[in-house]
Amino acid sequence: MSDILPSFICFEGLDGSGKSTQAHLLACELEKRGNSVFLTAEPTDGAIGRLIRQVLRHEVRTTDQALALLYAADRNHHLYNDEDGIIRNINDGRIVISDRYFYSSVAYQGNTVDGQYVRMINTYPHPEYVIYIDTPVDVCMSRIDRRGEKKELFDRTEFLRKVKASFDSIFSSLPSAVRFLHVDGRTSIEEQKEKIISFVSL
Ligand code: ADP
Ligand code: TYD
Repeated sequence: MSDILPSFICFEGLDGSGKSTQAHLLACELEKRGNSVFLTAEPTDGAIGRLIRQVLRHEVRTTDQALALLYAADRNHHLYNDEDGIIRNINDGRIVISDRYFYSSVAYQGNTVDGQYVRMINTYPHPEYVIYIDTPVDVCMSRIDRRGEKKELFDRTEFLRKVKASFDSIFSSLPSAVRFLHVDGRTSIEEQKEKIISFVSL
């Protein structure tokens, strides 16, 4: 039996797929219903996450393997630190919603370093819910272009195509105890929101 963290919801998808929009909307809705919610994201805004962002912005250079280790280290702190970690928040009675989790490492770093190695350094518990915002690569790229910001390390069509194929494969073999929702990222923000809210029964 795989380890499952109750009251933990993660959103996954490509860059620009609409994850953070839906994570915010779900957090608001769950709060409106009287829940206490911890909305978080990876890479985190902690020390390791900030270093990762510097690599993504091409300000710091490192190897692909070191970057894979940084994501895994950031996640370890995100999960287990006793101050504001995911597990601490769950134990304190909050619903935790994370914009990305270890599936992102398997999908992205699995295309730059050995896949088995990436799995090994990401032996973390599954969340109770995984919500995959499945948006075509060309739609994501045009949303990223519209942001008008400098392109980050992985914002490239060919690479995102490989990541999408990896996500599709990862999510076809999740443990059956993980509640999984596939969302068509081409549908409207409102339509996605309704689908997600009716799926989560917390
Ligand atoms: P991510 O967190 O996956 O990078 P965002 O939630 O930031 O994606 O969304 C990227 C951009 O696309 C934002 O400008 C957002 O307003 C827009 N967007 C999100 N969802 C939709 C949607 N269903 N239809 C059209 N635009 C969307
Ligand atoms: P994020 O801030 O979620 O980007 P976006 O809002 O554009 O979706 O993530 C930053 C980048 O880091 C993004 O290209 C995905 C990548 N990433 C990995 O490669 N591995 C990981 O484990 C995580 C969490 C993110």
